[in-house]
Amino acid sequence: MENGKKTLLSGIQPSGDLHLGNYLGAIKNWAELSDQFECYWFMADMHTITVRQNPADLRRRTLTQIATYIACGLDPEKNTIFVQSHVPAHAELGWVLDCYTMFGELSRMTQFKDKSAKNADNINAGLFTYPCLMAADILLYQPDFVPVGEDQKQHVEICRDVANRFNHVYGDVFTVPEPYIPKTGARVMSLNAPESKMSKSGPDGCVFMMEKPEDIMRKFKRAVTDSDTERCVRYAPQEKPGVANLMSIYSAVTGKSFDEIEREFDGKGYGAFKPVVGEAVVELLRPIREETERLLADKAYLENVYRAGAERAGYIANKTLRKVYKKVGFLPR
Ligand code: TYM
Repeated sequence: MENGKKTLLSGIQPSGDLHLGNYLGAIKNWAELSDQFECYWFMADMHTITVRQNPADLRRRTLTQIATYIACGLDPEKNTIFVQSHVPAHAELGWVLDCYTMFGELSRMTQFKDKSAKNADNINAGLFTYPCLMAADILLYQPDFVPVGEDQKQHVEICRDVANRFNHVYGDVFTVPEPYIPKTGARVMSLNAPESKMSKSGPDGCVFMMEKPEDIMRKFKRAVTDSDTERCVRYAPQEKPGVANLMSIYSAVTGKSFDEIEREFDGKGYGAFKPVVGEAVVELLRPIREETERLLADKAYLENVYRAGAERAGYIANKTLRKVYKKVGFLPR
């Protein structure tokens, strides 16, 4: 970057309401990093249509996501906040990268396997080539790091492979980015099924960022803990995955280490522990929810943010796209 700062980029699909996993695995870290880096944060709306969406819900969630990014501390004056479909270069580079990504490597992607199992009646080509569009999202902005939760690491790795392959043929066109995975919160598990990751597809075990405090508390009080006889708060992810998940959430929210948490709940059972974690999450999300609601009431402001964002993002993205088009041999316009 011209200002000497390293660059970060990441996005979230507005395919469901944002949840605690998205916050602890991604947005919280973005906000912490955003002062030291040149940052691009976007709404990955083009990715969502690999699965059927209700158009009105998609529009509502995309706008809510923009408001939430800002409410989480991403200042639009200092960060480029934009909607993926507003920057055509994503689709354009996506096509080029389709032609530099192998069928075999796409077939091995975990997300493709999971989503095609869940949507057996709609295993479309977009679902299959999803990683190429994601690689385009990333490589257009030449970022040094891509801050994501653990589940997206494989996608950043295929992006690196594709970038290296392209660079090998045409010289150093793309910066090859590193995934940046947080130390705590990288894999938040479902509250009622701690063997699966927290996601919108398991709503009973998922805490949504805009959810009412009483609903959040109810989910935490009902969280599955483990049926061991010891019943003490101890970090043992293999034996006690439910308790380990609650400890990880509590640690990510409060900054306390597992040792400190064990000491805090020494001699107390799971019944005492669960509501304390719930309260900590409620208090973490309360100001974010209130600020998101306030921002959503000002549509004109949000429109200004995403229009300015698309303009800034488009300028950088088109520079990379022009370079790529030239390298592959397209006639200049
Ligand atoms: P998505 O929309 O599924 O998730 C967005 C971010 O939230 C993180 N995350 C979690 N972290 C911890 N625990 C969980 N239970 C949890 N659930 C989700 C994800 O790791 C991710 O960081 N393909 C991407 C979106 C995307 C993208 C990109 C990301 C499209 N283009 C370019 C980075 C760069 C996705 O589906 O994430």
